[in-house]
Parts: sequence; C-alpha cells; structure tokens
Amino acid sequence: MKGWRNKTKYGLQCFFDVLARSLGLNMLPRYLWFEVTDRCNSKCRYCNIWRKTKHRTPLTVGRLRGLFSSRLFRNIQYILNSGGEPTVRKDLVELLLMEHEVFPNATIQLSTNGLRKDKVLEAVNVLSSNGVVLSVGVSLDSLSESNDNLRGVPGAREKVIDLLESLQPLQEQGKVKVTVGITFTNKNEVDLENTIRYVRGLGFQPLLNWYNTSGFYDNFESEVSCGKSIELLKKYFPDSAYRDHWIKSLRTGDYRFNCWALRSFFVLKCDGTASTCLSHYDWEFGNMACNEPSYVWEDQPSNVVRAKVAKCEGCCNNWGVGWSFQTEGYKRFKNYVRRKIFGSKDCIRS
Ligand SMILES: C[S@@+](CC[C@H](N)C(=O)[O-])C[C@H]1O[C@@H](n2cnc3c(N)ncnc32)[C@H](O)[C@@H]1O
Ligand code: SF4
Ligand code: SF4
Repeated sequence: MKGWRNKTKYGLQCFFDVLARSLGLNMLPRYLWFEVTDRCNSKCRYCNIWRKTKHRTPLTVGRLRGLFSSRLFRNIQYILNSGGEPTVRKDLVELLLMEHEVFPNATIQLSTNGLRKDKVLEAVNVLSSNGVVLSVGVSLDSLSESNDNLRGVPGAREKVIDLLESLQPLQEQGKVKVTVGITFTNKNEVDLENTIRYVRGLGFQPLLNWYNTSGFYDNFESEVSCGKSIELLKKYFPDSAYRDHWIKSLRTGDYRFNCWALRSFFVLKCDGTASTCLSHYDWEFGNMACNEPSYVWEDQPSNVVRAKVAKCEGCCNNWGVGWSFQTEGYKRFKNYVRRKIFGSKDCIRS
C-alpha cells in the first residue's frame, strides 16, 4: 500500500514539474552536486584537479549552514559531496553532520578516492552513531595494476581494497551504503569483468562512470579515452533508462536529452559559486555565499545559462542524466514498462 502511495506521489510530482517547466515556471532544486574542496591527494591520469595551483577558498561549515538554510534548498533530497577529494578537508565529519541537520530527510553521499581509510571510516561511524546511513561512493577503476597506473598513485588499489573490505561488515550492519565507481575508459575495459565480479562479491553496487573530457577534469590532453563497447555496457550495467541513453548515444553520436540542470539540480563550488554541471563547469550564474541563494537562482544570469542548457549537445554523465530522468519520470516509466512486457535485458549478476 505504502509502495503505491509513494509511486502515486512520485508520478504527481513528475507531472507537476513537467507542467511547471512547460509554463516557464522555475522550480526549487532537489539534487545538489557539491564540491567540498578543489584540492586532491591523488594524481589521476584522466583528471587533473590535483595539478591545480590556484584554489578557491572553501566556505566554512558555519557559512555553509547559513547558505543551505536558505528557502532555495528546502526541497533538497540528495546531496552528492564530491570534489576534489572530500577527505582532505579536516572538518569533513562536521560538514556531513551539518548537512544532515539541515536536510534531515536527504540522502547524504560522499564520493571518495578511498586513499584515506581512516577519514572515511570515521565519517561512516560518526554519522551512523547520529542515526545517519551515509552513502559512500568509492572509486576503483580496476583490480589489476592498471588501476594504480590510471590513478597515478602506487598502492592505491591495495588501499581501496582495504577500505572496501572494512566497509563490508559495516554495510551488513546497516551503517553505510556503498557503491563503487568505475570510470569506463579504453584503459580498463579489459579488466571490467573481474572488477565488477569482485565488487558484487563484496555485496556492493558497481557504477560505471561515463568518461568525460571537459574543463572540470582539465583532461583535453589525456591519452585516456571513453570506453566504447556497447556489448560490455549491456553485459555489466543494469537495464535502466540511463543505460538505454548511453547505448543510444554511442550508436548514434547524439547525446542530447531533456536536461534539468538549473531546474531540479545544479553544481555548487566550494566557495559558493553556482554552476551547471561537470561538462560545463564554467557556466556559472552567481555566488550563493555573497548573495541570497534564491535571488541567484532567479536572477538574469541563471536564465542565460538555462537557455544554454536547452541547446546543450548533451552528455552521459550519470547524475546529470539520472537526476533529469528522475525528475521527469517519462524515460524511467518507458524502461519499466518495457521490462515488464518483454523482460529485463539485464547484466550478469554474479
Ligand atoms: C571527480 S571525482 C571526485 C571524488 C574523488 N576524488 C574520487 O576520485 O572519487 C568523482 C568521480 O569522477 C571520476 N572521474 C575522474 N575523471 C573523470 C573523467 N574524466 N570522466 C568521468 N569521470 C571521471 C572519478 O573516478 C570519480 O569516481
Ligand atoms: S578523480 Fe578524484 S582523486 Fe582523481 S584527481 Fe580527480 S578529484 Fe582527485
Ligand atoms: S546535458 Fe549534460 S552537459 Fe549539457 S547541461 Fe545537462 S548535464 Fe551539462
């Protein structure tokens, strides 16, 4: 009964969001990608954030509390804490606790390279003792030595494995929910099967990241490129609207979809600058620490960026596509009906 009530509520929410958008009305964001810091302790080959010499000054937890308490954020359901590497921030636990206090019903996600096991376990344990099940996304590109080669840190694979094995009993006790992010490139395609089997064997959910070349990653010169095997995607990625979009994009070269950036989600940089997504990190529309967030959301520069989003060439970014499909519901519903009628074209499970 509760399931049907939730589904009906979600269906109505999708309907009203689509209606509001077609009437040209703004909505309040539900999902937030937050850059906890722009510093990093890794040396990845396909992400050059660690090479940055100029850094933004991150807002203190106190200032962030004030910012997140704005009316603009009252519908937030999901906050993805990323970066840079969040665990390099000394007050990470305080920050995550503050987020839970301000958004008590939201999912709090921490995205990490897994090099600082102590910091991740501390965050999981402190949040759990405050009644919060933290979602942790740990990056592991491969079980072979190509992982350390891609991540640029000798011993990174062992550290991540050690962390994952420490998280396993905590997940079994219901204290944390773990996903493992595998960036799908030409360099780790061959190891994918082993990596996914290992991750699933621990009881964790693997998540393939679409490889992106962009100013955010500053990787225009990288010799790493996107994984292109549709067969692998079909085999190892759960049957979903997102996978349908990714496969269609690889087949046709057309990455467009109805994007809800600056409607149901946006990117907040660590100094309060509001931006669009990782492909268009430079599409900024104001600073929410210097101005009232609701004003920044409604002001003219945000409308200029909304017009650019409407003409965007598209992408397969997992949260950009995922949050858009989640908001309008239509593609997910279509995939659901197809699976019900024709069965799931699902990936391997063991
Ligand atoms: C930018 S990192 C930030 C969090 C943390 N430092 C980490 O590595 O997990 C978030 C995710 O993006 C992935 N990533 C890095 N470079 C990428 C790229 N060029 N395209 C797509 N994803 C990328 C990382 O592997 C990681 O899973
Ligand atoms: S992917 Fe993460 S760990 Fe690697 S350089 Fe980028 S921010 Fe740092
Ligand atoms: S379609 Fe993708 S690249 Fe374009 S604005 Fe949306 S999230 Fe960014």
